Amino acid sequence: KRIKLIEVRSELGAGTRGASMGPDALRVACLNKGSDYFRRYNSVVTQDLNHVLFDKTPFRLAKHIDAIYTVQKGIASAVEQTLRFGEFPLVLAGDHSSANATIAGIKAAYPHKTLGVIWIDAHADIHSPYTTPSGNVHGMPLAASLGEDNLPCQRNQPDADTEFFWRRLQNLAEPGPKLRPEHLVYVAVRDTEEEENAVIERLNIKWIKLDEFQAKGSRRLVREIYEHLRYCDLVYISFDVDSLDSEFSKGTGTPVEKGLYLSEAENLCQDLLENDRVVCFEMVEINPTLDNENTMAKNAFNILEKATAAIERRLRLEEVVSR
Ligand code: ARG
Ligand code: MN
Ligand code: MN
Ligand code: MN
Repeated sequence: KRIKLIEVRSELGAGTRGASMGPDALRVACLNKGSDYFRRYNSVVTQDLNHVLFDKTPFRLAKHIDAIYTVQKGIASAVEQTLRFGEFPLVLAGDHSSANATIAGIKAAYPHKTLGVIWIDAHADIHSPYTTPSGNVHGMPLAASLGEDNLPCQRNQPDADTEFFWRRLQNLAEPGPKLRPEHLVYVAVRDTEEEENAVIERLNIKWIKLDEFQAKGSRRLVREIYEHLRYCDLVYISFDVDSLDSEFSKGTGTPVEKGLYLSEAENLCQDLLENDRVVCFEMVEINPTLDNENTMAKNAFNILEKATAAIERRLRLEEVVSR
């Protein structure tokens, strides 16, 4: 079994342009480090629609949701095909709206399996057009996957076109929700809005804050996370680089202080990826245009290398076992 890179040049879901260059920034960091990482793996690049005028979207409460829907169809089918081909999809994406499509792609490949999601991020990304403070779709992927609108906290009234595309996102690849709230775990989330706190509480979503992570250590927490996800057949790990402390994550659209240290993120990803139920890993939100000296991608590439090595070790073990 081999790793396949899926490069997603998405950026329309973010509030600022530039995240589509995140995967390229990782390549530059790789070459500057003298690593052959990007030569070792086959990659596919999904279709983007970044040529549209950024400030001219009619969808005020879900900016570019029409284009994002098209982009997500491409991501979902790339992830589905990769899994069906027996490869491990490692998704390098721009803005985090991609995650709804990654989840839909996994579910399309394994319709009868239960999927768990580990969400490492400063943000909960569980807004809907009915609650969003910004209209940025990268703040909404989990609500789309959960099939959640959060109407008890409604503060916006989206028009019929917005609702139409929002339903399309919620029903991407296959009709219906792809994820159940008890199968979602947040790690390092620390910048949420009231509406998000309310839905997290109502759905009783597991939320591991940073002080708990630091008190218990990566190993023990990872055990607890997989204990929580014990009924899941498959696991997807989504790593938003703004989960890192803003000291190490200048080159991202929405940096937040008091986050993960680099070594903490490396250990966390490594320990999580040792579990043989993990079928997909995703890294998102690197924006080199907001950076200097490409530091964000440099930091993220080090984490990516460690994470990939853990996946490789596991895939090799599985080969030995199946022989
Ligand atoms: N909650 C804020 C919003 O909805 C920020 C979301 C940031 N999301 C991200 N993937 N960086 O606008
Ligand atoms: Mn995010
Ligand atoms: Mn984030
Ligand atoms: Mn905020």
